[in-house]
Amino acid sequence: MSKATVFATRELPAATRARLANYCDLEVWDGFLPPDYEVILNKVPALEGLLSLLTDRIDAALMDTGPKLKVISNMAVGFDNIDVAAASARNIPVGNTPGVLTETTADFAFALLMAVARRIPEAKQYILDGKWQTWHPTVLSGQDIFGATIGIVGFGRIGQAVARRTQGFGMRLLVNTEDNAEDVPEFGGENVALDDLLKESDFVSLHVPLTPDTQHLISEREFELMKPTAMLINTSRGGVVDLDALYEALRDGQILAAGLDVTEPEPLPVESPLLTLENCLVAPHIASASVATRTKMAEMAADNIIAGLTGDPLPTCVNPEIYDV
Ligand code: GLV
Repeated sequence: MSKATVFATRELPAATRARLANYCDLEVWDGFLPPDYEVILNKVPALEGLLSLLTDRIDAALMDTGPKLKVISNMAVGFDNIDVAAASARNIPVGNTPGVLTETTADFAFALLMAVARRIPEAKQYILDGKWQTWHPTVLSGQDIFGATIGIVGFGRIGQAVARRTQGFGMRLLVNTEDNAEDVPEFGGENVALDDLLKESDFVSLHVPLTPDTQHLISEREFELMKPTAMLINTSRGGVVDLDALYEALRDGQILAAGLDVTEPEPLPVESPLLTLENCLVAPHIASASVATRTKMAEMAADNIIAGLTGDPLPTCVNPEIYDV
């Protein structure tokens, strides 16, 4: 019997490829850039499995060209790039990679927070610009992290992992969550309305998925509520923050600084006015990028492919309701 055909839209670790090859004929896209939508569209008719990344738009039209498609496995915890409702309607399970990237992503959110608060990228630039002439009482003074108030918006796995880190810094913890309210007391936090969190926090860290409800959750009105000394950290999805409003808020001193791992669009064009601001630190969506974590994510994505091909429930499935019928 011929093996199932699987297309992976980006390189995979050699060990993961070798394991998948036991179960399927695997084609791996070897471009540095993602394949165009049309490339995936042309491949789908032959596929039983599709291993996608967050850079790939996987929509209903694409699924409709794949009568044999048994599984879509996204190598990411977020899955806003996939029309999951369309997949469910076609009985296609969709997998993601939760859990393994939680701590790595929380580390990075905290790294951004610390870098922005203590102005570390500016400090490097200061030296490169030949400005370091002496120890100076006020130069490059930043904001204290220890004892500050942090507001965490969204309190799933990653939000909670950031909360754990704040405990070591003696921070006051405010949270805004509907889904995980019962977890907040365990962290010594207080669950408050978003507006109150914005008004009181020195740091606001975003940990919500991108949905129609969270699209531009933080925009002009929200920046007006924030303290002029507040800092915004976003490691969730770029679309959660209105970047035009953020630019104005940073430029006009409505808030002090921002650290972003995610932007809308991605990549952020080098001409973006945000990149001209010293008080805006931007990273190219690398929060989960440790060698160990990316390796585990690839393995989990492969586990979901293998389960889908063999007809087993995916170990980490975002639409498990399809198994109820
Ligand atoms: C990264 O952003 C992910 O969703 O895994």
